[in-house]
Amino acid sequence: MTFQRSLITAALPYANGPVHIGHLAGVYIPADIYARYLRLKGKKVLFVCGSDEHGVPVTIRARKEGITTQEVVDRYHSLIKRSFADFGISFDIYSRTTSETHHQFAADYFRRMYEAGQFVEQTSEQFYDPETGHFLTDRNIRGECPRCHAQGAYGDQCEKCGATLSPEELINPYNAETGNALTKKETKHWYLPLDQYQPWLEDWILNQHKEWRPNVYGQCKSWLDGGLKPRAVTRDLDWGIPVPVEGAEGKVLYVWFDAPIGYISNTIELCKAQPEKYGNWEQWWRQDDTRMIHFIGKDNIVFHCIVFPAMLKAQGYNLPDNVPSNEFLNLEGDKISTSRNWAVWLNEYLDDFPGKQDVLRYVLTANAPETKDNDFTWADFQARNNNELVAIYGNFINRALVLTGKYFEGRVPECGELTDYDRQTIDEFCHVKATLESLLENFRFRDAQKEAMNLARIGNKYLADTEPWKLAKTDMERTATILHLSLQIAANLAIAFEPFLPFSSEKLRTMLQMDAQIGWEDLGRIDLLQTDSTLGEVSLLFEKIDDSLIQGQLDRLARIKAENEKAAQEEALKNWRPSPIKADTTIDEFDKTDIRVATVLDCQPVKKSERLLQFSLDDGMGGRTILSGIAQSYPDPSVLIGKQVLFIANFPPRKMMGIESQGMILSAVDADGRLVVTTVSAPVKNGTQVG
Ligand code: MF3
Ligand code: ZN
Repeated sequence: MTFQRSLITAALPYANGPVHIGHLAGVYIPADIYARYLRLKGKKVLFVCGSDEHGVPVTIRARKEGITTQEVVDRYHSLIKRSFADFGISFDIYSRTTSETHHQFAADYFRRMYEAGQFVEQTSEQFYDPETGHFLTDRNIRGECPRCHAQGAYGDQCEKCGATLSPEELINPYNAETGNALTKKETKHWYLPLDQYQPWLEDWILNQHKEWRPNVYGQCKSWLDGGLKPRAVTRDLDWGIPVPVEGAEGKVLYVWFDAPIGYISNTIELCKAQPEKYGNWEQWWRQDDTRMIHFIGKDNIVFHCIVFPAMLKAQGYNLPDNVPSNEFLNLEGDKISTSRNWAVWLNEYLDDFPGKQDVLRYVLTANAPETKDNDFTWADFQARNNNELVAIYGNFINRALVLTGKYFEGRVPECGELTDYDRQTIDEFCHVKATLESLLENFRFRDAQKEAMNLARIGNKYLADTEPWKLAKTDMERTATILHLSLQIAANLAIAFEPFLPFSSEKLRTMLQMDAQIGWEDLGRIDLLQTDSTLGEVSLLFEKIDDSLIQGQLDRLARIKAENEKAAQEEALKNWRPSPIKADTTIDEFDKTDIRVATVLDCQPVKKSERLLQFSLDDGMGGRTILSGIAQSYPDPSVLIGKQVLFIANFPPRKMMGIESQGMILSAVDADGRLVVTTVSAPVKNGTQVG
């Protein structure tokens, strides 16, 4: 099959916050590089995206900011749209899932599947807040983690220990917003019977798409191996697209049902607005000479490779040909998080680094998490800018242009006889086009960009080796040839970097006064600039970024980290509930533990231990030493000296850090994890038993 056109989709970002570097690196830059590349090749391309404006994340944001959900999506939709435009993400359309076209088309999609009997109905018990009269989604349920017993774990995950949870497992579940205890109530929903699609999906993915990236293929395989189950595609919520069938009052389409349909509705919106340019929408979605590529992050794999394809198959639409998914980008060693403000926001980046879109594009591609999670650090950002963009690419361009200005009045000098070294240099860069194409077509953007940078390295080395600034004193003819060739390499660089660094390529094209007709297919040629043609005004392509700017970013992150720690502590205090009473015991059981009073004679931190304090006690029986892991709660342990404390006297002695501990001091654990040593309020004799 030869494909006539490519439909490129990029995951619709939730309109619950601005977009950050993780979004760009994971999805939008790779998708944009690919779309730009295909357009440069003269292919028919439609690149669609838009805001995902339904779902729980936007409603949570609204409550947090004290505004309506509509206000949240309006605010972030325009902010996100502007950021993408600012960074040159070249969507043909960026629409939104609250659009009328989408509401109508998504509701129709559901109705068509419903009428074709492609859902199963099921009633089940769900968590319910009797006071508000609402069913709760997993994210809105919190409680004690059954694994690590942290308070405030979510219904789908404990952020403390990382365990994946279901709300059923939480101890004492409550409504995250109101704090109300929850009950269960019956509710009816519609399910997509994925189990029925299993054999087809197995063949389609596991046999027919072995070329998908190993991370994508592997995740699909493990879902399929686990056996697919029906998935609810409706929810009890008041924000979303109403379920368009009878008996579904108060229910909306599950956000993961409606959002991917957004790819189709946005295509429809665009084709209706510009039919001459984009043609009929159905050719993009129904004709088998259209190739569809989904760019997504790894948390979206199951939806784009299993759930949405089942929906597409059910209604006879095209399936994706590939789903290049990236892993995650971390920031300075920590997971990027919108809710914890741990991110570099694109709008803020541009405030701090105006005009430096391409620097971020470059760094994020150089570090793209294509095969594993990667880390963004400001030190690496600075180094890649200063040592690669400035020192190699920028330096080469600047030298070639400035020297041409100096010796040849800014005109492309004549090419004389080529030396062996010239020929060798030309040889080196003439296969760049083929290498770049093969990498780009296999979605290996990191390596592709490296190849483009190699071309700049070749140019830079050529100038360093031939030293035209020295030759100019003795041999103007040779100088002319060297600069002629250098300028041809520069023109090649403008083309090679076009998919990656569109702003810089544009600037370079203007500086070289390149003919607009010169395009991708000319890559590798050494006659792109005419002898004697005049160059434009010269300015720096990239500028050094100095330490103070980087330090400013690091300081900002340190402030956020401190704020987050404080907020987490306050959250833990707010959500604290006494743990459930333990199983019954008896006085005889209790009596086995020998608890007594002692006076603290001395209390010191144990050397080389962050945790341990060493107590010397007057226990009324000749004294003893006890180690206790409470150092972090007592920065000044001397406050305990002279206090009467309770200790367990009949634990067998135990050695820690080379010191023998003879028992255990009793402390209470406060809600924030602080340990408080229990003391006796009125003096009693040391060695007195407690019971
Ligand atoms: N909003 C989702 C996310 O950010 C992605 C939706 S992709 C779509 O993870 F296919 F549903 F549109
Ligand atoms: Zn936990």
